[in-house]
Amino acid sequence: MKYKVPQLIPFVGEEELENLKHVIEKKWLTEGPFSQEFLQLIKEKTDSKYAVLANNGTLALFLALKALGIKEGDEVIVPNFTFIASATSIYFIGAKPVFVDVDKQTLNIDVTQIEKLITSKTKAIMPVHVYGQAADMDPIIAIAKKYHLKVIEDAAQGYGVYYKGKHTGTIGDVGTISFFADKTVTMGEGAVVLTNNEKIYETLKLLRNQGRPNSGTFIHPAFGMNFRLTDMQCAVGVAQLKKFELINQIKQRNFNLYLELLKNVKEISFVEIQDYTNFIPFRVNIIAQEKSKLIDYLENHGIQTRGFFYPLHRQPCFSYLDYKETDFPNSNYLYNNGLSLPIFPDLTKEQIELVCNTIINFYNK
Ligand SMILES: Cc1ncc(COP(=O)(O)O)c(C=O)c1O
Repeated sequence: MKYKVPQLIPFVGEEELENLKHVIEKKWLTEGPFSQEFLQLIKEKTDSKYAVLANNGTLALFLALKALGIKEGDEVIVPNFTFIASATSIYFIGAKPVFVDVDKQTLNIDVTQIEKLITSKTKAIMPVHVYGQAADMDPIIAIAKKYHLKVIEDAAQGYGVYYKGKHTGTIGDVGTISFFADKTVTMGEGAVVLTNNEKIYETLKLLRNQGRPNSGTFIHPAFGMNFRLTDMQCAVGVAQLKKFELINQIKQRNFNLYLELLKNVKEISFVEIQDYTNFIPFRVNIIAQEKSKLIDYLENHGIQTRGFFYPLHRQPCFSYLDYKETDFPNSNYLYNNGLSLPIFPDLTKEQIELVCNTIINFYNK
């Protein structure tokens, strides 16, 4: 079906093409000048001391866990309401993901539920900053200090999102940001791992590049794999990072238009933004009565939506963890009632009006 309003169109154009042309002309395809520039821009934006590239947000999490020494038999506490990759990165390390419910208002990890899940095997907490606002990091850092745990921030969706003035991904021991095609800024596939700890940085460098600090040598002091990107991806990424302010400005404008047009629809509500975080509208997330019927209605009117995350405890691949349906009331509530509306920068005012009018018509019928 060709949608009148698709869920997402990446905001790429002339600037990305120009940079890509440069890569081809220079004939340097693997990590090179654009990769260096990309990392420099990331460090400036996030104020992270160190940053390395990774192939995508999933492998960035795997790399981060590996660099922290998380291993088979360890337990890592992770929100139950997140994209599957947060938990599968833990699974593929050989550790056990331990799910914690999220806060119904913020959709982020419920910090009051963490402590009771800590056992002698717990080695780390992985807060996830979802849907454009930061998780409440101070209590998480306090718990981690108390129990000597590591903190890995999954800031896959967190580019441009700050917690009390600190960029997400730079508050714990290590953090990751994804640049997948649906993220605020993108390089198609790609990610960074951030840390302020030099030792972790040195380990990350070895792990991501075949166990050697730099390419060009066949002597490998350590074991590593290939988590490298290409300069083509970073060429697109550099152009995107330079457009971030524009992208954000347009998305904020789109978001405000949604707020205005839907303000009188009592059947829906917007996610609450907390004082400790700014908000980068990753998607327009709403809690809606009769969510499934609304999704179908919008779909039938040419509008593509997304449901919220399917809670991890319900995922068939995690059935071996034997959670009960009643263990995660908030994740279930959010899945049952939440949906995301399109907000990409090229969306027109008319398209947003169409989405909002279709929602209004659905509840009026
Ligand atoms: C919260 C979260 N974690 C991890 C990932 C994985 O990132 P990637 O798609 O770059 O592998 C995503 C991707 O959407 C995500 O939303």
